[in-house]
Amino acid sequence: MLIAHLSDPHLRARGHLYQDLVDSNAMFLTAIRHLAALVPQPDLVLLTGDLVDEGTEAEYAVAAEMLARIPQPVLVIPGNHDERERFRACLRHSPYLATSGPLHLTVGDQGAMRILGLDITVPGEHHGDADDAACLWLEERLEEEPGRPTIIMMHQPPFDTGISFIDASCCRQGARMAEIVSRYPAVERILCGHIHRFMQLRFGGTMLVTAPSTCTAIALRLQHRAEPASFVEPPALLLHHWRPQTGLITHLVPIGWFPGPLPFF
Ligand SMILES: [Fe+2]
Repeated sequence: MLIAHLSDPHLRARGHLYQDLVDSNAMFLTAIRHLAALVPQPDLVLLTGDLVDEGTEAEYAVAAEMLARIPQPVLVIPGNHDERERFRACLRHSPYLATSGPLHLTVGDQGAMRILGLDITVPGEHHGDADDAACLWLEERLEEEPGRPTIIMMHQPPFDTGISFIDASCCRQGARMAEIVSRYPAVERILCGHIHRFMQLRFGGTMLVTAPSTCTAIALRLQHRAEPASFVEPPALLLHHWRPQTGLITHLVPIGWFPGPLPFF
């Protein structure tokens, strides 16, 4: 089972740039073209939030058009830049979408792995929160098939990254999540977005990976009280390759076209 993972496209209304500087729509189209050229093709595409930038209807109209270009099933969870009800309306054709409340997902019919989308966003706020309801939902889903290889998607990472200007808006109460996940060794990965960078660490006895954005990267500034900034670094996607004999291998794939193939020695 091959799972592509994009994050944080921050799509804008037609003719508008992300932060008035970057053409995030064009960059997402490039990511979609890159996806379409992958051999073999992924079975499934995940998107870990911030589908759009300001949550407007015009942005979601662009998002609907863009997502329709992806032939695989696309599982999307919201980020802090999404607007819950417009997001729900945009993705209303998805058979997995909750019809009210948080936009959690449970997908078990797309291959060997089960995908749980945990919506820990707090409407109107930038931080996330693994609150009572979210933790209960997660534990109930994990308990349904405790032995099945599982991916948990969420937007804001539930740990301190060391980049101070983003940590203020990470997911609160991460320790509660870690305690729950630690009791389910079949959780192969927790996948996050939000921080527009690739990071990996051990969390709750499993591996947690954050995906780069398809547009800008948050500056890697590990100094105390660093000045917030972003860079237009080479964007990337992740490919998660599940094989029962190996487990889940995560590949970081730069988006774009590069010289090659060259002779391999
Ligand atoms: Fe984002």
